[in-house]
Amino acid sequence: METIHYQSQSQLVMENVLGMKGGHGDSSYALNSLSVQIKMVRAVIPYLERAIYEKMRVKLNGDGLFRIADFGCATGGNTLLVADTIVRAVKRSLGEEEEPEFEVYFADLRSNDFNSLLRMMLPTQLQSCADADNDGDTNPVAAGSYFAAAVCGSHFRRLFPRKSLHFCHSSLCLHWLSKVPEAVRERRSPRVYVSSDCEEAVGGAYLHQFNTDFTRFLNARAEETVYGGCVFISLVGRNGGTHIMEEQGTLGDISRHFEYAFQELVNEGFIEKEKWESFNLPWFGPNPEEVESIVKRQGAFTMEHVRVLGEFPLHPMTEVRRGEKEVFGSSVGNHYRALLENIVKAHLGCESLTDEFFFRIGKRAAAKFEEYLSNHIELVVVMLVFLKKITGLMRFAFHEF
Ligand SMILES: C[S@@+](CC[C@H](N)C(=O)[O-])C[C@H]1O[C@@H](n2cnc3c(N)ncnc32)[C@H](O)[C@@H]1O
Repeated sequence: METIHYQSQSQLVMENVLGMKGGHGDSSYALNSLSVQIKMVRAVIPYLERAIYEKMRVKLNGDGLFRIADFGCATGGNTLLVADTIVRAVKRSLGEEEEPEFEVYFADLRSNDFNSLLRMMLPTQLQSCADADNDGDTNPVAAGSYFAAAVCGSHFRRLFPRKSLHFCHSSLCLHWLSKVPEAVRERRSPRVYVSSDCEEAVGGAYLHQFNTDFTRFLNARAEETVYGGCVFISLVGRNGGTHIMEEQGTLGDISRHFEYAFQELVNEGFIEKEKWESFNLPWFGPNPEEVESIVKRQGAFTMEHVRVLGEFPLHPMTEVRRGEKEVFGSSVGNHYRALLENIVKAHLGCESLTDEFFFRIGKRAAAKFEEYLSNHIELVVVMLVFLKKITGLMRFAFHEF
């Protein structure tokens, strides 16, 4: 049994383990995001384009460069599709007179598989990426239309020079928190939070952590973005609802599926109950009002647009319709693995226990697939324009974090 250095969630530096699973294998993010996440990315594209045509008020500097950053880019076809869409839309919106050159910065944590992403940009790979994007309504990736660079570090800090970015983008990412809130870590319980029917205090602690993290993100972008520049965000959230935990939707559903896997490992003596009780997930799905109030309080951006898009199925059930429940189960296991393997492995401290854990997830999904039918994702989509000068107080707040 291979042992990995175990880190309790209080020791865990989340940014060291959060990355999606790299490569192109069965449980890689690049492969799994082509079944679920790509649908959401495509649904958001019309809003992204409209935001660029209608709201962007950027003036280029003398260097004629337009700089785009994609925060939490991960790796795979989604990442390139988004970069390509932004470049095309900006070109169209700036018109014939201005012909900028484009730089696209792909930003993510250092655990991200940047090598696979950059390899996908080789001309032959771009063609197969365009072929895979086979729904017919998206143009192939515009090879060679921008210069690309990878930037690593947490987007809750500054990653770029002052006033250097024209367009900031972040997709399916900002619901990830920098850590499980301390108040939640301290209360041991056989629940994997975020999950439903837990106490108000737990929900409040998660909302507070989201508030802190999202404010840090906005503070950093306010320093980096040029006046009139945009920040376009889509994140997993919820539609209205004041009871934070009951409304956690898809994030709560995944937590519950995790609970069953932990419970089985405990019942069969693979792990101590304490291991289960000390595991929680570092994410929070806000509603539009919560996002709006943080943006207003932070103060550097105007909120031009906010809406909820949904409901996207969390589990494509094609295999079940073909009667292949086991294939469905293993696709659920692989999908969760693509997102969460690194966190689970750091917590369980062992490769084979991690395999066992995701095997349980898949086994249960195959047996209880009806339960998975109702699992849906709602997205909160937000468009911000940077208009205000940053004040002394906000600078102070930024450096404090
Ligand atoms: C689900 S993936 C989204 C990928 C891609 N944007 C898409 O739409 O398919 C979320 C990404 O956010 C990144 N991420 C989470 N927290 C981060 C942080 N604090 N700083 C930078 N990246 C972060 C993860 O590493 C992961 O690659």
